[in-house]
Amino acid sequence: MELFGGLIAVTVDVFLQKLHLRNVPALADIGAPAEGCTCIVTGPTSGIGTETAATLVRRNAHVVLACRSAERGEKLRKQLYEEGIKAGRQPSLEVQLLDVASLDSIRRFAKSWHEQKRPLHMLINNAGIFSMGADRSRTEEGFEAHMGTNYLGPFLLTMLLLPNLRQTAKKNNHNKPVRIVNVSSKMHELAPGVDKDDPHFQAQRSYSSLAAYNRSKLAQVVFTAELRRRLPGDCGIAVTAVHPGEVMTDVVRSLPALMQTAYRFFMRPFCLSPAEGARSSIYCATSRDPILTERGQSMEPDNCYFGSDCRCSSPSPHALDPALGQWLWKWSADMVKLPVEYNIPASSSS
Ligand SMILES: NC(=O)c1ccc[n+]([C@@H]2O[C@H](COP(=O)([O-])OP(=O)(O)OC[C@H]3O[C@@H](n4cnc5c(N)ncnc54)[C@H](OP(=O)(O)O)[C@@H]3O)[C@@H](O)[C@H]2O)c1
Repeated sequence: MELFGGLIAVTVDVFLQKLHLRNVPALADIGAPAEGCTCIVTGPTSGIGTETAATLVRRNAHVVLACRSAERGEKLRKQLYEEGIKAGRQPSLEVQLLDVASLDSIRRFAKSWHEQKRPLHMLINNAGIFSMGADRSRTEEGFEAHMGTNYLGPFLLTMLLLPNLRQTAKKNNHNKPVRIVNVSSKMHELAPGVDKDDPHFQAQRSYSSLAAYNRSKLAQVVFTAELRRRLPGDCGIAVTAVHPGEVMTDVVRSLPALMQTAYRFFMRPFCLSPAEGARSSIYCATSRDPILTERGQSMEPDNCYFGSDCRCSSPSPHALDPALGQWLWKWSADMVKLPVEYNIPASSSS
């Protein structure tokens, strides 16, 4: 019944989203300036991530293009740099290698960040996969690929960079936005919880990449709510999960060529452009909306999820379940071998 309700909601969302979002401003008019902010955008080399990174560059932030391909990263850096120069700006951006499916790569990235004692205002956990119709596959650590790439990697990255974000928020005296944005999906509503006995789909004979994707996206929202419970209300960091909308990107790349073409042909009229899909990330990363800036408010677990209309909305009830939040946290910390000094104990309210 719950799954059926979720399926209807997601289907309606896909086909009516353009109508529902008709009054949402264009990307350039969403949120607020980001001048002087240092931002990490993961997965900037395609789709929503490219538009997110480009918008922050246009707003004079320093943007780290955290990508797994040096070549694609460099191509994007050059393109955004030239665009900025033509527009009379001095763009500030750099490429850093980061594979969010590899814990070693994440640890190297975070180590270098700590060694350079860099400030960090915005961490946009955008990189993700949806291996539609593909067989079960695993990350190098043996995690189910969606869970590893979409959730466990970003969990580790966030926890390792949290000291930098907290330090930045402290010094910043709350003047500039300090934010964590987890790019999730409305599809998380279709996940019937997280199977605690088999989170990596090892025991199940039949495997569905859709179920694995949905579960990984639910895990992102559960983590977002749990992090908000654990961080002090006055830490100055707003942590959110967003649904970008159903967006025409390369997310269907795992489908056979013919199916990709058919998908693009039939779905294009209903899908958002990548720029439209980046609006909720940019809103949560930059907006001075009181729900994101007021002490405590920004840490209420109930305020953790924003839809493609850039409004706070209700995630799946599983996402706000404190018992699931506690379990997922402990399981994730064990999975990624989170060093104890980076862990945050459960708050009395969780
Ligand atoms: N499109 C939608 O309708 C939709 C709906 C809901 C949520 N989302 C979410 O939005 C986010 C962006 O997706 P998109 O639609 O823009 O997809 P996309 O066009 O496929 O872009 C995904 C980005 O993630 C990067 N990436 C994938 N695996 C990575 C890894 N292991 N390490 C580092 N980077 C990696 C890709 O890098 P490469 O260029 O190297 O492949 C690419 O830059 C994802 O989290 C997705 O789940 C999308």
